[in-house]
Amino acid sequence: MTETLTLGVVGGGLMGSGIAQVAAVAGIDTVVCEVEAAAADRAGALIDKTLARGVERGKLSEADAQAARSRIRVTHHLEKLSERHLIIEAVVESLDAKRAVWSALDRIAAPECVFASNTSSLSIADQAAATSRGDRFVGLHFFSPVPAMPLVEVVRTVTTSDATMTAALAFVAKIGKQAIVARDTPGFVVNLLLVPYMLDAIRAFESGVASVRDIDMGMQLGAGHPTGPLALCDYVGLDTLERVGGVMYEAFKERRYAPPPLLHRMVVSGWLGRKSRQGFYDYRVDPPVPRDFAG
Ligand SMILES: NC(=O)c1ccc[n+]([C@@H]2O[C@H](COP(=O)([O-])OP(=O)(O)OC[C@H]3O[C@@H](n4cnc5c(N)ncnc54)[C@H](O)[C@@H]3O)[C@@H](O)[C@H]2O)c1
Repeated sequence: MTETLTLGVVGGGLMGSGIAQVAAVAGIDTVVCEVEAAAADRAGALIDKTLARGVERGKLSEADAQAARSRIRVTHHLEKLSERHLIIEAVVESLDAKRAVWSALDRIAAPECVFASNTSSLSIADQAAATSRGDRFVGLHFFSPVPAMPLVEVVRTVTTSDATMTAALAFVAKIGKQAIVARDTPGFVVNLLLVPYMLDAIRAFESGVASVRDIDMGMQLGAGHPTGPLALCDYVGLDTLERVGGVMYEAFKERRYAPPPLLHRMVVSGWLGRKSRQGFYDYRVDPPVPRDFAG
């Protein structure tokens, strides 16, 4: 990667649009690739919305937001990523989906291009093995909401070269984030500890320990957490949480990683958290209200 680093982002959902935004704000020319034209339009609209929110909240000037937007192009043609120096993948948390993306990109991207996965729980090695560039493959695990969360986990797998680690750490510094380095084990550092906590909060609600409001308030006021665990589940996305828990359960075979049945019932009902406006809270009203449901 060079001074004039260019970035490709595959998947323009919650995470991909945020990653594109922070990179563009840092002056990096960025192309976002979505799966089809309508999804690309949605990704563009999401980037517009989050940049506008940054301006409203005084985090960005109008001019900086416009300059950042001018550095982002959104497409649904993977070939548009052929000249990128770094490509970050943020598609759905499915190994098959990610391997399919990487195998296609391996044929399209320049040989020196570095590939980085934003996976929350899947093995970096399993993804790198779908390409011919294991040495130029790394994990770059961002946190939601990307513009606000300062951390990126840089994940090194067995094949990752020193040069790729150096380039990945330089990228994280360039976009103004703080890096920690983790090995390629399920959940890395943060999700290894956080996912069982969120799933335990769902189990506590499911078994009638307390209401949504009281579980969240308990951890905010009693443990000093800025956000309650169930509100956090809604931020992450309940479908994503179910997939991440499932992958970690498969890896460790420990109950604490197993997605609770209530989580599954909410996901199949389309209650995905903030992104679908319904989850443990109802976001169709402002301010959102905790739900009191028997599920
Ligand atoms: N949500 C979080 O808090 C969080 C945090 C860190 C990492 N992650 C990881 O980031 C990844 C994305 O999560 P998200 O929350 O942004 O999900 P999301 O559902 O909001 O977005 C995924 C996007 O990928 C697109 N997509 C799917 N297949 C594609 C393909 N083949 N080509 C291009 N685009 C494709 C979808 O259309 C969708 O817009 C997952 O691996 C997830 O585990 C999520």
